[in-house]
Amino acid sequence: MTPANSATADWQQEGNAHFRTGNAFFRTSSSTGRDLAVLAATFYRAQQGQLRVIDAMTGCGIRPLRYGLEAGADYVWANEGNGDLRSLIQSNLSHSLPANRYKITHQDANALFFDCHIRQDFYDLIDIDGFGSPTPTLSTALWAVKIGGLLYLTSTDGRATSGRATDKSLQSYGAYARSHPAVHEQGLRLLLGAVMQQAAAKGLCAEPIFSFYSGEVNRVMVRITRQSWQTQQYGFLAYCHDCGQFQTVAWKKLGRVECVCQPKFTPAISGPMWLGPLHDAGWLAGMQALAVARSLKIEPLARMQAEINLPPYFYPLAEIGRRAKIDIPPSKALIEQLRQQGFLASWTHINSQAIKTDAPMAVCLTLAKQIAAEIAPASSLEMS
Ligand SMILES: C[S@@+](CC[C@H](N)C(=O)[O-])C[C@H]1O[C@@H](n2cnc3c(N)ncnc32)[C@H](O)[C@@H]1O
Ligand SMILES: [Zn+2]
Repeated sequence: MTPANSATADWQQEGNAHFRTGNAFFRTSSSTGRDLAVLAATFYRAQQGQLRVIDAMTGCGIRPLRYGLEAGADYVWANEGNGDLRSLIQSNLSHSLPANRYKITHQDANALFFDCHIRQDFYDLIDIDGFGSPTPTLSTALWAVKIGGLLYLTSTDGRATSGRATDKSLQSYGAYARSHPAVHEQGLRLLLGAVMQQAAAKGLCAEPIFSFYSGEVNRVMVRITRQSWQTQQYGFLAYCHDCGQFQTVAWKKLGRVECVCQPKFTPAISGPMWLGPLHDAGWLAGMQALAVARSLKIEPLARMQAEINLPPYFYPLAEIGRRAKIDIPPSKALIEQLRQQGFLASWTHINSQAIKTDAPMAVCLTLAKQIAAEIAPASSLEMS
């Protein structure tokens, strides 16, 4: 349905939502993050028979519209700290949703979450899409989410999570983030680690539903349960700048970290962070089935499914090429070779020019050199 006055050129469409962005912060490039959240919310609604949502930092109101129109949300609460956006949000929501299915407020998100808790008014999905790190509102959101409900968090603080601002990573995540080739995955894992630790402090567990990195933005959706916290998966990631090998490190082993290349090289250690799966296989399968049923092509879903059981890091192909002193190796051939040797190997949604594998870096280099040697005679024959 197109709004009656959508003849004016500033109305846009994303999913089933028609809206204007006015002076609100809005990025078209974030649409896949919204698509994934809508699919997860739809899957939740189908299982639980109810979906009440708080979009704590709504901007123009695109998310409440999409949760309402596409995920079947029974009720959406659109909150936006900037009261100047009220008429824009009101105009967008009132065009497509009946007045009894939404509410608009202009509180600080923390005040809103505490207010919910005081009134014992708990929500199925809380979406926090602010600027920088979500940590200032992370623990308070846990006061307003239902047990069994979902929290969707965004962070855009790449400097803190990539080793360029270690003081900031300590401040936001209680973790020391070092630089290495897989820092974009590290951003997701630090965020998951922070929400899990905060949930655990309240006797709760935050279980990953999906994690999505795109365009310097980290997004994680977790489900809050009363399960016990998997502390053995909350640890450290070590990277050897000398040989390029990653390894995971448990708390008890912190004093004895050595690299496979030579004991004298102490790897750079980041963490603590979540080292377990980034996604839940059942939820991704459910979301994929919904996407197929709706004829939606959500590009990263297949790679997200493929990477679930792989280690908590990746190797960029350029890094393998540089270390092997060859051209950038072809990912398909390298993944096939690694699998033939009995290793796990896959692409990752985080970096299209990287692979995930449980094979040591040394094996990747040997296989990449073999592939390069096989390609080289074939291409010189073609040239002759
Ligand atoms: C990234 S924009 C939201 C974009 C929107 N979710 C979307 O998908 O288009 C962040 C919004 O959060 C608002 N905001 C930031 N901090 C807030 C807070 N503590 N409480 C409420 N709103 C806040 C800002 O005014 C801004 O409009
Ligand atoms: Zn090493």
